[in-house]
Amino acid sequence: MNGTARDGKVDYDTIARRYDAFRGGGGPYLPLLVEMARSHGARNVLEVGAGTGNNTAAFHEAFPAALLIACDLSLGMITRAREKEVPGKWVQADAHHLPLAAGAVDFCFGCYMLHYVSSPAAFFGECARVLRNGCAAFVTASHEFIETHPMNRYFPSFAAIDRARFQPIDVLKEALADAGFGAVSEQRIQASPAPIDQSYLQRVENQFISTYSLLPPGEFTEGLARLRSDIEAKGRLDVELVWESVVLSARKGPR
Ligand SMILES: C[S@@+](CC[C@H](N)C(=O)[O-])C[C@H]1O[C@@H](n2cnc3c(N)ncnc32)[C@H](O)[C@@H]1O
Repeated sequence: MNGTARDGKVDYDTIARRYDAFRGGGGPYLPLLVEMARSHGARNVLEVGAGTGNNTAAFHEAFPAALLIACDLSLGMITRAREKEVPGKWVQADAHHLPLAAGAVDFCFGCYMLHYVSSPAAFFGECARVLRNGCAAFVTASHEFIETHPMNRYFPSFAAIDRARFQPIDVLKEALADAGFGAVSEQRIQASPAPIDQSYLQRVENQFISTYSLLPPGEFTEGLARLRSDIEAKGRLDVELVWESVVLSARKGPR
């Protein structure tokens, strides 16, 4: 089972445990999210597409005063989060229809979930509705990062798959403004360069990002074999990975 459903979409219910074993939380973007919530004096915080709670837990650790509500579409992902006893009130919900009253939260965020949102207009409209005056922030990947990713040389369809899924940053910014948000902005944050070594190989083997499960038949196996052979030859690739996240943020109401 490679984690794709018959309709070609990623089946998070099926891959929840594997996802959780090979993905962490608290990426380079987390301090910025926490700073935004803190500077807006947020108390009630909503995380959308919270998955198995890796970023929820990291956010709670950095900002324990916040009352967290975490939602995700996948019951399998939520079940894993609950097993780990990730703090917060966990709710199964579609981002396009948030089960919260108007003005229920002061800060709303989501990490690497926007590419699953079929209607950014509807989703951002929901975020604007459930926010009192406050701030929304979303972590995603730019097309520039996708196109220059070192794995493109092993998996020829890598960039095409993710370019088709991840909305261009300008499109997302426009959708935020159309939903009534002000002060729409983006910040690009790079992690320190990291080696592409045995440990990275193990994560690719376990398809730690869903892109791998969406590759055409045979391409994953062939690319993985070449990657394994190159890493085994020298212990690591000549190139390092510089992970870049884009944090999109916007404000509802006056500061
Ligand atoms: C790549 S994972 C990211 C999970 C988590 N934010 C993290 O950083 O580890 C994407 C998540 O979005 C969730 N998702 C997909 N479509 C969704 C929707 N329409 N509404 C809410 N969550 C959704 C998936 O179930 C999955 O948990």
